[in-house]
Amino acid sequence: MTHRVLITGGASGIGRRFAERFAETGARIAVCDADAQAAEELSVAHPEILTRTTDVTNEAQMQAFLDEVEAAWGGVDVVCANAGTGGPAGRIEDMSYADWQACVAVNLHGTFLTCRWAARVMRVQGSGLILITGSTAGLFGYPLRSPYATAKWGLVGLTKTLAMELGPAGVRVNAIAPGAVEGDRMERVLANESAATGRDIEELRANYVENVSLKSWVSADDLADMALFLASPAASKISGQVMAVDGHTEAIV
Ligand SMILES: NC(=O)c1ccc[n+]([C@@H]2O[C@H](COP(=O)([O-])OP(=O)(O)OC[C@H]3O[C@@H](n4cnc5c(N)ncnc54)[C@H](O)[C@@H]3O)[C@@H](O)[C@H]2O)c1
Repeated sequence: MTHRVLITGGASGIGRRFAERFAETGARIAVCDADAQAAEELSVAHPEILTRTTDVTNEAQMQAFLDEVEAAWGGVDVVCANAGTGGPAGRIEDMSYADWQACVAVNLHGTFLTCRWAARVMRVQGSGLILITGSTAGLFGYPLRSPYATAKWGLVGLTKTLAMELGPAGVRVNAIAPGAVEGDRMERVLANESAATGRDIEELRANYVENVSLKSWVSADDLADMALFLASPAASKISGQVMAVDGHTEAIV
């Protein structure tokens, strides 16, 4: 596999695992992330990865990053629109407009800017895969997480629509919907939800596992396995799909 792979929000968590696992296959990797410290750590650990501090919601910053990658590579094979933020936890009647907008901006508007560029480049080259990181929050209702669920459901619409727009040009578009993933991010989510509800963190943690048929959270590697599969020739006829990697859930909470 000699892919050229671009990953947003790739300096930590799932995106970083995507970057490392694609790199292991011999792919060239470009990562952007809004967290300058995490980006610095990634470029120290992996100097071969083109890493830039870029906010996906900032059009000028994104254009500079994407132009740089296009100039360096002359095209792109896989674009992982992965940057996301969990947003606030709480009832909608208590939520500030600023918090709502900030969550939707990263998850939806940043994905728009990423996908717009990917579509322009991939349509011309007649090939490519856009891989959007959605969530099981985009498959079910998610009480107290309305902006996040709204944005992730929006990404399902974007995935299916872009698959139709770009399919005739030979470009595939899929989403991965992770369930609860082991790691820092879920620890922050649990802390926020505990603060919003007054419920004990361990009780909330047990509840997330209870709703999973396989009685387990998933790992970033489980998601990277799916990303590598979707980028492989074995998935050449898979497009417009939302692939849940969640141990099977029928409801989040
Ligand atoms: N962790 C989970 O349980 C879980 C579950 C379902 C879906 N997801 C989704 O997976 C994706 C990755 O999340 P993660 O779990 O790796 O979280 P994470 O917080 O570990 O990593 C997200 C990365 O995105 C970066 N980022 C945030 N806002 C950004 C912005 N505006 N511009 C550029 N980069 C930005 C962060 O700095 C961070 O490095 C997100 O889209 C998230 O919604 C995560």
